[in-house]
Amino acid sequence: MAYIIDGKALSQKIRLDIKKETEQLKNQYGKIPGLAVIIAGEDPASKVYVKNKILACQEAGFFSVHRQFGADVDAETLIRTIIELNADDNIDGILVQLPLPKPLDGDAILPFIDVRKDVDGLSAFQQGLLLQGTPDLISCTPNGVIELIKSAGKEMSGKNAVVIGRSNMVGKPMAMLLLRENATVTVCHSKTENLKETVKNADIVVAAIGKAKFVTADMIKDGAVVIDVGMNSVDGKLCGDVDFENVKEKASAITPVPGGVGPMTITMLLKNTLQSFKRKVGASL
Ligand code: GUN
Repeated sequence: MAYIIDGKALSQKIRLDIKKETEQLKNQYGKIPGLAVIIAGEDPASKVYVKNKILACQEAGFFSVHRQFGADVDAETLIRTIIELNADDNIDGILVQLPLPKPLDGDAILPFIDVRKDVDGLSAFQQGLLLQGTPDLISCTPNGVIELIKSAGKEMSGKNAVVIGRSNMVGKPMAMLLLRENATVTVCHSKTENLKETVKNADIVVAAIGKAKFVTADMIKDGAVVIDVGMNSVDGKLCGDVDFENVKEKASAITPVPGGVGPMTITMLLKNTLQSFKRKVGASL
């Protein structure tokens, strides 16, 4: 039976540290970190995520701006909003909640975010820094995964790590971060042949597929560390990419859904916003 990695508890601990540091910086510099969240449309899951991000800002003592647009907003309006926020000295981080409603194209809008305010770490600049091994603002979900693995006291150096999924938001940055930890990294995706055998060889499995219970116990090596990035809605219930009940019997450590990766994503967003703020005021990073 695996050790269940408690993302909620780890998240609370880190958020408390961020809150304390924010208080100290406020006393020292007379300013607080600011995050702007832009959302278009009424996707219920996106609205919940955005609400939680704003709430997390308030609890950490950050300033936050919430810009809600209708699903029919045009790209120019979003771009103009981003340009205004780029120039706003009270704002240290800007994020556009994804996915954007059709026909809006994130690839045409996100590049307008000032790369030093790109607290989602999705820009070519921030992802390029990560690729080169000198990261600045790291994508929140993969960064949270690394913290979760470390919190469980699990070694990554020299281990076989398999990432399932190759998105710019999770899979690709995840692979780079595991490589930075000196893991031997394999990225699997929808075209991968013998996926099962590849995953079976992994000491660390990160599942970011978007299919409920895709990773089953027969795919897992005894004692593996299994991190579930999945957020699937099944009959109105949140369900991960891993068959948790069965996989936990084989893994040595595993994250649950909910209560694993999810809370850490927002915590890493706060961390990035704080880091951007510290650079602005000239505090040591
Ligand atoms: N949609 C789902 N997760 C994320 C995230 O981490 N950032 C943004 N901007 N949109 C998301």
